[in-house]
Amino acid sequence: MTSLITTPFTAESTAEEVVDGIDLAGRRAVVTGGASGIGIETARALAGAGAEVTLAVRNLEAGERTAEDITATTGSKQVLVAPLDLADQASVASFVASWDGPLHILVNNAGLMASPLMRTPEGWEMQFATNHLGHFALATGLHRSLAAAGGARVVSVSSSGHLRSPVVFSDIHFRERAYEPWAAYGQSKTANVLFAVEATKRWADDGITANALMPGGIRTNLQRYVTDAELDRMRAQTGGGGPAWKTPEQGAATSVLVATSPLLDGVGGRYFEDCNEAGPNQPGTRRGVAAYALDPDAAERLWQVSVQTLA
Ligand SMILES: NC(=O)c1ccc[n+]([C@@H]2O[C@H](COP(=O)([O-])OP(=O)(O)OC[C@H]3O[C@@H](n4cnc5c(N)ncnc54)[C@H](OP(=O)(O)O)[C@@H]3O)[C@@H](O)[C@H]2O)c1
Repeated sequence: MTSLITTPFTAESTAEEVVDGIDLAGRRAVVTGGASGIGIETARALAGAGAEVTLAVRNLEAGERTAEDITATTGSKQVLVAPLDLADQASVASFVASWDGPLHILVNNAGLMASPLMRTPEGWEMQFATNHLGHFALATGLHRSLAAAGGARVVSVSSSGHLRSPVVFSDIHFRERAYEPWAAYGQSKTANVLFAVEATKRWADDGITANALMPGGIRTNLQRYVTDAELDRMRAQTGGGGPAWKTPEQGAATSVLVATSPLLDGVGGRYFEDCNEAGPNQPGTRRGVAAYALDPDAAERLWQVSVQTLA
């Protein structure tokens, strides 16, 4: 067992603090969902450190507004906006086709949580399709650009929600079992971790590493499908009211750490929270990583299933 990676940063650290002193000039980054919630602050910190940042968004107007705001606050003129709908494979393909040159940092950040049952035109369950399959298609489509960067990093924004479900290979799309919004979210967020495990293994020779993370609890548009009463009930279940909400700047810190910290050079296939690598989950808690999310066999199987699904 290799030892866990620790850093000087904590749950209170902000994205700006973790990237302080790191020079990203000449690096190119893509942040999916970069016009909302923690995606905005992730993009802002990367741009502030000198990276060219592309906000990959489905709402172009929000993207342009965010880009202007980031330029105003950081002085960066290298904030770009490009259309990307992760639930639409044609949209992912056209984003990939329009990308030219190396890509140093890919932050797979966009996501939806606990939505009612929705399906893509292919019949795929929407949370799995958006949170995992869309990002899988994006990252594999951009593989050549990531390899060309030399030492590229892929950041897989997962969640402690992964503790709610492994990937249920026998019925990923809820065709046989009853749909449960949180089980679907949990499955998709486990898939985000498994992706980091397998991508790191497959792409080691290209110098690409991928890590997953839990950003913390942050009030954003993510809770659009969840009532306050349900949130309160969940927090009570986890004991003591649960951890305090983070600000978006704190919520973006672990993503930015995983994307940029020299402490993670050459490190991949791991799961971080509160700016440090997480240990195994202890039953009854909502911290740490489930063994099934780091399982190399499940990671390989998910990769194969994802390729077949998208074929
Ligand atoms: N907030 C938390 O407490 C928390 C906790 C654990 C994990 N996370 C994870 O953190 C990530 C960011 O969440 P957030 O809190 O910042 O939520 P957010 O404010 O709702 O941002 C999510 C982003 O994903 C985008 N998105 C959703 N479906 C998409 C699609 N089909 N194609 C392209 N973009 C799509 C949304 O675009 P629109 O604005 O167009 O809808 C939005 O920009 C998510 O992966 C989430 O699972 C968050």
